[in-house]
Amino acid sequence: MAREAPLSKVAESETHGENSPYFAGWKAYDEDPYHELNNLGGVIQMGLAENQVSFDLLEEYLEAHSEALTWGEGAPGFRENALFQDYHGLQSFRMAMASFMEEIRDGRANFDHERVVITAGATAANELLTFILADPGDALLVPTPYYPGFDRDLRWRTGVEIVPIHCQSCNNFQITSEALERAYEDAAVMNLKVKGVLISNPSNPLGATIGRSTLEMILDFVTEKNIHLVSDEIYSGSAFSSEEFVSVAEVLQARGYRGSERVHIVYSLSKDLGLPGFRVGTIYSYNDRVVTTARRMSSFTLISSQTQHMLASMLSDREFTRKYIATNRERLRRRHGKMIDGLRKAGIECSRGNAGLFCWMNLSPLLEESTTEGELELWRVLLKEVKLNISPGCSCHCSEPGWFRVCFANMSEETLEVALHRIHSFMNQIKSN
Ligand SMILES: Cc1ncc(COP(=O)(O)O)c(C=O)c1O
Repeated sequence: MAREAPLSKVAESETHGENSPYFAGWKAYDEDPYHELNNLGGVIQMGLAENQVSFDLLEEYLEAHSEALTWGEGAPGFRENALFQDYHGLQSFRMAMASFMEEIRDGRANFDHERVVITAGATAANELLTFILADPGDALLVPTPYYPGFDRDLRWRTGVEIVPIHCQSCNNFQITSEALERAYEDAAVMNLKVKGVLISNPSNPLGATIGRSTLEMILDFVTEKNIHLVSDEIYSGSAFSSEEFVSVAEVLQARGYRGSERVHIVYSLSKDLGLPGFRVGTIYSYNDRVVTTARRMSSFTLISSQTQHMLASMLSDREFTRKYIATNRERLRRRHGKMIDGLRKAGIECSRGNAGLFCWMNLSPLLEESTTEGELELWRVLLKEVKLNISPGCSCHCSEPGWFRVCFANMSEETLEVALHRIHSFMNQIKSN
C-alpha cells in the first residue's frame, strides 16, 4: 500500500479548534434541522450568532436602489470593477464603512477612511492582527468566556497561544485588574511572552457591553506592560441603545489619543447587518506601521469589488443607515426581552445583558455534578432529547460549569416560541422527576 505523503505542521496541528462541542452541535443540527413544515421534531439551531431580524430592511433598500446591484449610471462600469484589484479597496467603500462605524457610535468617535483596512470578515481581521502583533510561541490574553472561533482564528496558523483572563459570575463576568494581572503572571509561568490583550465588546458570549471605566483600566494595563489592545467590536450595532455601548475609539478620543498607537479595532458586517456570507470585515488601527502591514497582508483576504460596490452605495445612504441601526437595535432588544422572559418563566436565569444576538444562561442548578463533564452531559441531553443546539460554556472556556450561550436572532419568532416551549417542557419534566 502506498504511504501517505506527510503534510505540514500547521495542517497536522490540533489547534484548528474544530473538535469543540460548539462545532459538534452545528453538525448535529445539519444532520437533522428543524423545519416548521417538514421536520417539526428536528434540532433547533441556537448555537449560531446570526442576525436575521432586519433582512426586510436590506431587501427593501435593494429593491428601491437597483443601482447598488448594477453597473448603471453613476456607478463605475463593469470592466472597471471587474479589473479592480487594489488592496486598498474602493475608496467609496472605505469612506462608507468609516461613516457607518461613526453612525453606530452616534458620532461620538471619528474614523479616518485612510486607516480602514479591508478583510474577509472579522475572522481574517483577527488572524491578520495576530500575525502582525505576535510571533509563534507568544501569547495574547483573552477574557473568558470567549467566542470559540478565537481558538482557531488567533492560534492555528499563527502559532500564537491564548492565555485566559478568568472572569467570574459573581461580578457578571466583568474584566478586573486582578484577573488581568493574574493572566499576565500565568503567561510568565508558562514562559510565554504576552504581546497583547484581545477583548470582544459587546462581548460574545455574554451579550454585555464593557463599561468605560473597565476600558480605561485595560488601556492603562496595556500601556504599563507595553503591549497591544485589540478590540473586536463586531457586535457594536447590537447594543440595545447607542449610549450603552462605549467604543475604545471614544475613550481614546477623550484621552487626546494618548497611547492610541497600541490600539486596533476589528469590525465586520456579519452581525450588525446580518451578512456573514458577504465576508466583509475591517481592521481600524491607530498605528501607521500596522495599517501599512495589514494592508499588504490583506492581499490574502480581500473582498470582491462587486460586494464593495454594493455596500458603498448602501452604507453611504445616511437616511437608510440611521433607520436601519435604530430599528435593528429595537428589534434585537425586543427579541432579547422575549427570550429572557421565556427562560425566566421556565425557571432559568441569565447573566445581565444589554447587547448581542444571544443570552448567557445559567443551568448550573441542573448539573448532576458541577464539572465540565457534568456540563457536557447536560449539553448532550439538550441536543439529543430536547433537540436544541445550545453552546456549552466549556466551549467558550468559561471557568464555572453550567453556563450556556443561547442565540435568539437566527430564527423566526415562531421558531423561537417552539424552542422556548421545548425548554419549558424540559424544565417541567425535571421538576416533576
Ligand atoms: C467575537 C467574534 N469575532 C469574530 C467573529 C467572526 O465574524 P466574521 O463572520 O466577520 O468573520 C465572530 C462570529 O461569530 C464573533 O462572535
